[in-house]
Amino acid sequence: MYKRNDGLIKLPGIKLIDKHNRCLNYLRISITDRCNLRCIYCVPDDIHQRLPHKEILRYEEILRLVRIGVRLGISKVRITGGEPLIRKGVYDFLGELTKIRGVADVSLTTNGVLLRDNIKKIKSAGIKRINVSMDTLSRQKYKDITGHDMFDQVWEGIESAQREGFSPIKINVVPLNGINDDELTDIAKLSFSYPFHIRFIEYMPIGIPRTNNIGKQLLAPEIKKRINEIGELIPVKNGINDGPAKRYKFKGAKGEIGFIDAISRHFCKQCNRLRLTASGQLRACLLSDRQDDLKNPLRKGCLDSELADVFLRAVSHKPFDHNIACNQPGKVAGQMSAIGG
Ligand code: 5AD
Ligand code: SF4
Repeated sequence: MYKRNDGLIKLPGIKLIDKHNRCLNYLRISITDRCNLRCIYCVPDDIHQRLPHKEILRYEEILRLVRIGVRLGISKVRITGGEPLIRKGVYDFLGELTKIRGVADVSLTTNGVLLRDNIKKIKSAGIKRINVSMDTLSRQKYKDITGHDMFDQVWEGIESAQREGFSPIKINVVPLNGINDDELTDIAKLSFSYPFHIRFIEYMPIGIPRTNNIGKQLLAPEIKKRINEIGELIPVKNGINDGPAKRYKFKGAKGEIGFIDAISRHFCKQCNRLRLTASGQLRACLLSDRQDDLKNPLRKGCLDSELADVFLRAVSHKPFDHNIACNQPGKVAGQMSAIGG
C-alpha cells in the first residue's frame, strides 16, 4: 500500500516503469493547442477544431500534475504546444515549474517567433535549453511553410538565445519532399559555424495536414545519405537521458546533426516519454490514440494518489511499438498542436 490518508505517495519505490521495462522519466506537456503560425504539416484546415479555453488545463493544474509525476519518477519536463509562448502568463508558469524540486531539467520547444523579445524572461524563469522549429533558410519558403513572413524575426530569436548562453539550442527541421529537400545540406552546414544541434525529424502522420503536397515521405536514411556527401558524419554517443535522436557531428564542426527517425526506425524500445495534452489527457505514445483522462478527476477533486493511479494506468498501457508505416496521413487522429510535438 502506498497511499497515505492525505493521498500523498509514501514509497519512493513506485516508478513509472512499463511492462516492457522502460522507465518513463520524461514528461512533455502541451500548454496550448493554439499557435501563431500555420505550418503545412501541422495545422489542419479546420481551425475551429481548437479547444475551448475551459478545456485547457490551468497552470496550477499542470503544476500539481508535475509534482505528482515527480514523485513517480519524472525528472525531465518539456513545455511545448501549439506555441507555448503565446499563452498568457507563460513566463511565471515556467518560473514555477523550474522551482519544483526533483525536476532536473525543464526545456522548451518553440517556433521562435516570440523568442527575440522574450529571451531574457525565459532565461530568468530558469530555462536553459530550447528547441526552435526552423524548416528552411529561405525567407520566402518560411512564409510558404508557416504562412507568415517571420523568418528574420525567428533567426534573430535564435541568435539572441545563443548570446544569452542557452545550450544546446536545437533546431527542429521536418524535411519534406518538394518543399525544403533542396536545402537539407545547407541547413546541416549551419553546424560548422554555430554550436546548434540540427535535428531532422521525420514527418509523422498525425492529424490531417492541410496540404496533400507532403508527397512521398523523406526518411532519415535518405536525408543522411545526402548530408554525408558534404562531409563524414561521425557518431556522437548518446547520454543516458538523451532520448531517441541519433546524433552525429562533422569533423571540426561546432554543432551536431541528429535524426529523429520515428517512422523508418522504430526507436520505441528506448522511449522514455509520456505526454500531457493541452486538454489534460495523458498519452503514453505519441503515435497511438489511447489516452487517459486526468482533467476530469483533477477537477472533481481527486486525491493525488488517485491521479497517480492514472499515471500508472497510462504507463501500463504504453504500447511496445507503433505500427505506423510511411505515407499514412491521418493515421493518428489527434492534432499535433494539442498533443505536443
Ligand atoms: N511530423 C513531424 N514533426 C512535426 N512537428 C509538428 N508536426 C509534425 C509532424 N506531423 C514538429 C515541429 C516542431 C516539433 C515540436 O514537432 O516541427 O519542431
Ligand atoms: Fe505552430 Fe509548431 Fe505547428 Fe508550426 S509546427 S503550426 S509552429 S505548433
